[in-house]
Amino acid sequence: MTLSRPVIVAGDWKMNTTPADAGRLATDIAAATEVAGVTRIVCPPYVALPAVRDALAATSVAVGAQNLHGEPAGAYTGEVSGQMLVGLATWCIVGHSERRRDQAESDELIGRKLLRCAENGLRPILCVGEQLAEREAGLAEETVRGQLERSIGELRRLGAGLPADLVVAYEPVWAIGTGRTAWGSDAAAMAALIRLVLAESAGVPEDGAGVPVLYGGSVTSASIAEFLAEPEIDGALVGGASLKVDEMAGIVARAGMTAAARASAA
Ligand code: 13P
Repeated sequence: MTLSRPVIVAGDWKMNTTPADAGRLATDIAAATEVAGVTRIVCPPYVALPAVRDALAATSVAVGAQNLHGEPAGAYTGEVSGQMLVGLATWCIVGHSERRRDQAESDELIGRKLLRCAENGLRPILCVGEQLAEREAGLAEETVRGQLERSIGELRRLGAGLPADLVVAYEPVWAIGTGRTAWGSDAAAMAALIRLVLAESAGVPEDGAGVPVLYGGSVTSASIAEFLAEPEIDGALVGGASLKVDEMAGIVARAGMTAAARASAA
């Protein structure tokens, strides 16, 4: 079961690029990462989504949004709903730690955002992860379990389940943008815990074995191998390095080796 999961590399461009330069970057990344068996996604800022969608139309690189609103529509000045993203993106990052930190996004709100993804055919990449103090206090697993359980609880309150096509990104907050990565073995242990919690709390079948879990946090072409060496890890959510064509080429090339190994073992 492990080996049948897809290998995914998603680039989170965060608040970088303009509509004028994003299409070119997307085109260059697509050309430099043509590797069999790897699901490639780029997530530009909202305003660059049309340019990136058009630039990637003839490629197999998918487009993701970085966020969506928790309500379907209404008086929310400056916000973007799931419905607005239809036709622009097919994936959406949900619950990124920078939004949890800067916009005080709660686990319950993140649960509602997952529902909005499902309603609009957007495949969610749900981000979870602990702060450094939580890891140092031995609370990393409890923190991630709590994040998942509260989001699942909100979905249940709304009479909904987890989106069937959910992807989870384990992003320890202390590893994001710091150059300091987690250990591959710690990330693998967290991936196993994430699947266990999804099975226990949301009834995801086969002990969650079908749910892709990505690692994120200072991933580069040099550090990706440590994570993809772990069978529990199915790829990466890449921040800073996803803006560099050469780095993406290296990361996706390494992901292609994992994809090939899984295909031959299946
Ligand atoms: P960095 O790769 O820049 O650490 O960012 C990771 C991240 O937050 C991806 O969403």
